[in-house]
Amino acid sequence: MALNIRHKQLFPDDTNVLPKPGTPEQAELIAEEEGIADESYLDTIRTFDPQAEVLYDEVARNAYAALEAVGRTSDLRVLDLAAGTALEVHSLLKHDVSIRELVLTDYSQKVLDVAKRMLEKVPQARAIKTEYLPFDLLAESITNKVKPGYDLVMSCNSFMHFGKEDHLRIFKDVHEVMVDQGVFVFESHFRIMARDWKQTIIQATQERMLSRGQEPAFVETVGSHYARFHHFHPVHEVYNWFEQAGFGYYDCVYRNRMLGIFVAIK
Ligand SMILES: C[S@@+](CC[C@H](N)C(=O)[O-])C[C@H]1O[C@@H](n2cnc3c(N)ncnc32)[C@H](O)[C@@H]1O
Repeated sequence: MALNIRHKQLFPDDTNVLPKPGTPEQAELIAEEEGIADESYLDTIRTFDPQAEVLYDEVARNAYAALEAVGRTSDLRVLDLAAGTALEVHSLLKHDVSIRELVLTDYSQKVLDVAKRMLEKVPQARAIKTEYLPFDLLAESITNKVKPGYDLVMSCNSFMHFGKEDHLRIFKDVHEVMVDQGVFVFESHFRIMARDWKQTIIQATQERMLSRGQEPAFVETVGSHYARFHHFHPVHEVYNWFEQAGFGYYDCVYRNRMLGIFVAIK
């Protein structure tokens, strides 16, 4: 589906070049991610955007609704890509699902260690066979890293580090490792319909952080992280990636400012 987009001057493409695998810029990006990925990660990002309060619950609620719709809520194999501290898994476990196997991937072993410590404290998670798999989604294909047959694949707050072609390639890989009628829940950050949209997003985030008492130096770092390392794709691209990857049904199930959640069924 190609959209005929006029008025490109009002909503220009993101022009920053995202870090390539193995570069010092990528190491810098990951170091900044590791710097806030601790057990109080949710409290930190609440100051970026109060929507963080509802985001993980929306991801989990929509994942559960889609799993129910395809009649598959027990004995699940679940894959979480660029999982970070895996807050989305914590929210999913509040629903009536039984997970047989959980695979959490992330670039950073350090972040996965935090995820492990946090999940070990959750009683429902203790019986789940869980694997923590560090690898770079930009450099390696998930089809070579995991055994196919996932009922649910999730990714939350991470793909804004990736370009258009990476999204398409990874969506195709996700499709390949899913069972028929498997569910893919994808949340990321997207362009907003405002003039000077990128600066508008950064400024609003920084104002919220300052009003919630964050240190000005940290607020500066987050602004420059967004400017350098986040890419805000327009949402219509997501439909293109789902379509081209071969998903049979997909929709945007939540949108609030830059945050968008999509569900796709194979
Ligand atoms: C902002 S965190 C979000 C994590 C989690 N899903 C959440 O919402 O709480 C983004 C994660 O993406 C990971 N990441 C960034 N680039 C990556 C890459 N190329 N391959 C794999 N993981 C990557 C980072 O290490 C970080 O843990």
